Amino acid sequence: MRKKIIIGNWKMNKDKKETENFLNEISKKKFETDKDTIYGIAVPSINIETFSLLKTNEMKISSQDISQFDSGAYTGEISSSMLKSFGVTYVVIGHSERRAYHFETNKTVNLKAVNAIKNGLVPIICVGETLDEYENKQSKEVVGKQIKESLKGLDLSKIVVAYEPVWAIGTGKTATFEYAQEICEFIHSITSKELLIQYGGSVNGSNIKDLLNQPDIDGALVGGASLEVDSFISLISK
Ligand code: 13P
Repeated sequence: MRKKIIIGNWKMNKDKKETENFLNEISKKKFETDKDTIYGIAVPSINIETFSLLKTNEMKISSQDISQFDSGAYTGEISSSMLKSFGVTYVVIGHSERRAYHFETNKTVNLKAVNAIKNGLVPIICVGETLDEYENKQSKEVVGKQIKESLKGLDLSKIVVAYEPVWAIGTGKTATFEYAQEICEFIHSITSKELLIQYGGSVNGSNIKDLLNQPDIDGALVGGASLEVDSFISLISK
């Protein structure tokens, strides 16, 4: 039986004070999570230390990116081992925003994932088709290629895949449960039934349960709805 994994992605939001406020506020709340559900937040790197000092034990820390290199002359980059030394467990790699604005390719995503695993981090590898590709019924072809190239040679028991249709991110347009299920089932069919697959794209407290009830959806990667304490709690509570 695969576990469930729910990770908030704060993207480029919250300064130090706002990060502290979030963690102070959540520490005062009472809520119950399923013991088989892993949950956490992908925090901007500069706030990871603040986050790690104030977080409750169960909450996992993720970064939003890493360097493909171990160390050296790569100005502005942050390595897996640096992140690991601050208690980071997961790292989001190849988010569609990084693919679009930072021109990350499947090859780069693969190299970053190899580096993350080598240093004991769990990569959350993002894939997903654009609106054009979706409308042209190319979703499986596009996602299949991203999976094949981004996951090349990786140990599938050491990674998570996040299926995030680009047209559903931050738009309020969630893919239908059937559609999200169909693509996640497809990803399982070309990888392994053991692989954990998250869905991402306008997930919130009202639709998450139905999404997680789909047999091939093992969790969610959540942007907007992870930013406020109450809505984050609505994602992770039983
Ligand atoms: P939203 O939940 O805001 O649509 O963002 C999804 C996402 O990009 C998570 O990585």
